[in-house]
Amino acid sequence: MKGKRVRLGVVGVGIWGRMHIRAYLQHPSADLVAVCDRDAERAARTAREFGVPKFYRHVEELLAENLDGISIATPDTAHADIAIKAAAKGVHMLVEKPLATTVSECRRMIAAAKAKGVYLMVDWHNRWNPPYYYAWRALRDGELGDVRYIYYRLSDTIYVPTKMLPWAGESSVLLFLGSHALDTTCWLMGEKPVRIFCQRQEGILTGRGVPTADMYITVVNFSNGATAVVENSWVLPQSSPSLIDHKCEIIGSKGVIYLDPTHHGAIAKYTAKTSAGFPHPSFPDLFITPEIHEKQMGFGVESMYHFVECVRDGKKPLTSGEDGLLNTRLIIAAEESARKGLPIKLRNL
Ligand SMILES: NC(=O)c1ccc[n+]([C@@H]2O[C@H](COP(=O)([O-])OP(=O)(O)OC[C@H]3O[C@@H](n4cnc5c(N)ncnc54)[C@H](O)[C@@H]3O)[C@@H](O)[C@H]2O)c1
Repeated sequence: MKGKRVRLGVVGVGIWGRMHIRAYLQHPSADLVAVCDRDAERAARTAREFGVPKFYRHVEELLAENLDGISIATPDTAHADIAIKAAAKGVHMLVEKPLATTVSECRRMIAAAKAKGVYLMVDWHNRWNPPYYYAWRALRDGELGDVRYIYYRLSDTIYVPTKMLPWAGESSVLLFLGSHALDTTCWLMGEKPVRIFCQRQEGILTGRGVPTADMYITVVNFSNGATAVVENSWVLPQSSPSLIDHKCEIIGSKGVIYLDPTHHGAIAKYTAKTSAGFPHPSFPDLFITPEIHEKQMGFGVESMYHFVECVRDGKKPLTSGEDGLLNTRLIIAAEESARKGLPIKLRNL
């Protein structure tokens, strides 16, 4: 149904909600009808800035707009109630990762979406990340033979939990970044995780008044005997050359793939000096959200375009509520493992 228009709303117009707004304003089939944020002043300011016709403080008001779909870009702990209300109105949903922070919330969201036959897509945009997509395709084409090992690092500088996210202390780097890392690892592996063993380090962020762990090192065993090591840290120094450190190695029986979309070498900028006087390079983001001639580019908007096109064409999205439930179960099992100092068997996943 290429000619069909899709009526959309965005709930939560913070850092990432703005990306949803930009994606919907750019997509030729999307009509962004209204935005919603419990911070009414922010909702109003954002609507004005982007020329969105309406803004609301309460999601019930937004849902009275006869929408086809909404994005939910509220903090990690504030996805479920909004999703359940949207599902009850028959509205398709693109929910920011992680789907929710508890298994029961995930289950209620899935049940609500199923009851009304609406999509519950999770925004794991790394499935649209060009190097990762190419790796996934090489694995699917058998180029690496049997995958035996994946190493996956996704970390941020300490700026993110201390200055960027006011709610970091109510979340964790495992929920914020581990969610992406675990989803991409499972997607690349294409097998069921059967066991998880996680260690966590604490102290640096609590010392800065943010009550959350500094880093997690998570070992995941898969049903085919393969292993993955997932590393997520929230305490890299602000002098790091990029906000995010994203790396992956995939070792198979016939080959290996190395991925490094953050330190890609396409551009290295030397404009400042470290305190010791050395030039300090930075590697601007060229993959996630580069802005080119005032247009929002990058794979960050591709998952959002995919959602619009799925709603427009009646096509099932590439990520689902069930993927979200699996991911949250892995995160909770990893926390349990870290707490107990023991590996956790994952049953019925
Ligand atoms: N896909 C990605 O790579 C990516 C990147 C950043 C953030 N995120 C996710 O996006 C979500 C939002 O993160 P952010 O960094 O934009 O946060 P943020 O704090 O910048 O923005 C959240 C907004 O939600 C609003 N809000 C909170 N509760 C609400 C409610 N009940 N109803 C309406 N509005 C509400 C807040 O007022 C705020 O404006 C999180 O789940 C986060 O993990 C995803």
